[in-house]
Amino acid sequence: MELVKWKYCNPYSNQKYSATRSFQICGRQVLINQLPEEDITLDSNTGNVVWDGAYVMCKYLENVYNWDKLKDCSPPQATCLELGSGTGLAGLTAWLKGVDVYLSDLPTKTGLLESNIATNRHIVTAQNSIQAVPLDWYLISVFILFAT
Ligand SMILES: C[S@@+](CC[C@H](N)C(=O)[O-])C[C@H]1O[C@@H](n2cnc3c(N)ncnc32)[C@H](O)[C@@H]1O
Repeated sequence: MELVKWKYCNPYSNQKYSATRSFQICGRQVLINQLPEEDITLDSNTGNVVWDGAYVMCKYLENVYNWDKLKDCSPPQATCLELGSGTGLAGLTAWLKGVDVYLSDLPTKTGLLESNIATNRHIVTAQNSIQAVPLDWYLISVFILFAT
């Protein structure tokens, strides 16, 4: 367990429901498109805006997580799969850190991920890949249940 410094009154909270938000991550400006105009309820459109937890995860991945651990993986080029990516901010941070990334969400929700990949594609010159994929985690759990 590790701690990330976090002030609840974070400097980005005033943009929470803007169409676009800007974050400084790994020395780059990451622009995130949001869809705040759609109704956001407990069971619909929750991924249309960046959650505070995603920003905390970014700062953890940026400043705390030991990426050297992945060098010992086999194959050595690690691939990251983010589940329930929403706007994709956390996965985009892993991509900035140099790994190949799949951002995933429900099939009806991958359009926002694709737009955020396109918006930020130019900020990384390295060859590691990033793509949006439709993935319903309930279907994965059924698959794991029947495969084990
Ligand atoms: C609370 S939001 C968090 C979004 C993003 N990770 C963040 O922190 O900003 C939960 C996300 O999980 C997605 N989700 C909900 N049910 C899902 C399911 N069965 N399979 C995959 N994703 C799902 C939603 O579409 C939404 O993007």
